[in-house]
Amino acid sequence: MFEHFSLAPPDAILGLNAVYEKDPRAGKLNLTVGVFKDDEGKTPILPSVKLAEAKIFQEQKSKGYLPIEGGRDFIDQVNRLVLGDGFEMARVATAHTPGGTGALRAGADTLSKLLPGARFWVSNPTWANHNAVFQAAGFETLSYRYLNAAKTGLDFDGMLGQLSQEGRQGDVVCLHACCHNPTGIDPTVSQWQEISDLLAKKKMLPFVDFAYQGFGDGLLEDAKPISVLMQQHPELVICASFSKNFGLYSERVGALIMVSESAGPTEAVLSQVRTAIRCNYSNPPRHGEAIVATILSDPALSSQWRTEVDQMRSRIHTMRSALIQGMQARGRDFGFLADQKGMFSYTGLNPMQADWLRNEKGIYIVGTGRINVAGLTSTSMDAVCDAIAHASAV
Ligand code: LMR
Repeated sequence: MFEHFSLAPPDAILGLNAVYEKDPRAGKLNLTVGVFKDDEGKTPILPSVKLAEAKIFQEQKSKGYLPIEGGRDFIDQVNRLVLGDGFEMARVATAHTPGGTGALRAGADTLSKLLPGARFWVSNPTWANHNAVFQAAGFETLSYRYLNAAKTGLDFDGMLGQLSQEGRQGDVVCLHACCHNPTGIDPTVSQWQEISDLLAKKKMLPFVDFAYQGFGDGLLEDAKPISVLMQQHPELVICASFSKNFGLYSERVGALIMVSESAGPTEAVLSQVRTAIRCNYSNPPRHGEAIVATILSDPALSSQWRTEVDQMRSRIHTMRSALIQGMQARGRDFGFLADQKGMFSYTGLNPMQADWLRNEKGIYIVGTGRINVAGLTSTSMDAVCDAIAHASAV
């Protein structure tokens, strides 16, 4: 039967990553997948994570299954991190999911069963996997305008105009809480207020992808759009990832957080989430969850981790500034990158130029022109600036 299978196209991000791994060139550089690297080009295990692992190694008593939604400690800590201490947690149904992608899928699976006829809106552009995940859950996906024509900023009027004209009551709208992937371009707080007003007026459900908490302006600051939305939206969905801010990429730790209007529906919502999870991956893996719970519940470890998040954010900021300066020194104005937040920046390079960078220089970027700023280092900076300056003239 399998003889008839045709080759599926490679993943736009992880497919390139795989090609990079096989590239024999010594000076190659990977700016594709969103993984934080230190100035030596390595993806470190955070010291707070190492300490938590040592503690877990000493204290963990069992590898038995976790509940379908994950352990209570993890859930309580994550709710506080994302929603803030004062939130009415009885309204919240949370599940540990394998990464942010697991949360997106479990959330979309849950909604698609219960909201027939709803459509899923995603920004144009958006993370390369969003459409596939929401469609796999059974949704029709639609794109709302996001990037301006010059590809340097937000087309805010276009975004609001389109959602206002074409959005329907009951549609679901995927929003990136901070560090928009792939552009790095975020709405301001007052723009968030307007987005929230519009979705409330249209009765559309915010579905917030929160994969980079701490990488924009800070752990608290990056959650601000969520508190803006929560003031007006009695119901919303948040998909959090701990891949980046805890550096737990391969441990697959994320959370699906579904907020209801009151405590009444919470148990029913959680039961639907459990059903979606059980027929997919059954229940979550223990180790990454234990790391996050251990760190967040230990004041000393938690404060150390917060400092480490600040350091990662500050390194990304330094690299983004160095890139802008490096391009300026080569007569190119990349000043628009200064307003971008988080791991990614949109360079404005096209797929042909991205191919040229890869083939000629061994520098891998995503075909859309997205680069992982967190993959730049002081030593690679000059070569990257030279290559981008050259590529943009190709
Ligand atoms: C990215 O956009 O590079 C990350 O979110 C990793 C991934 O899974 O694509």
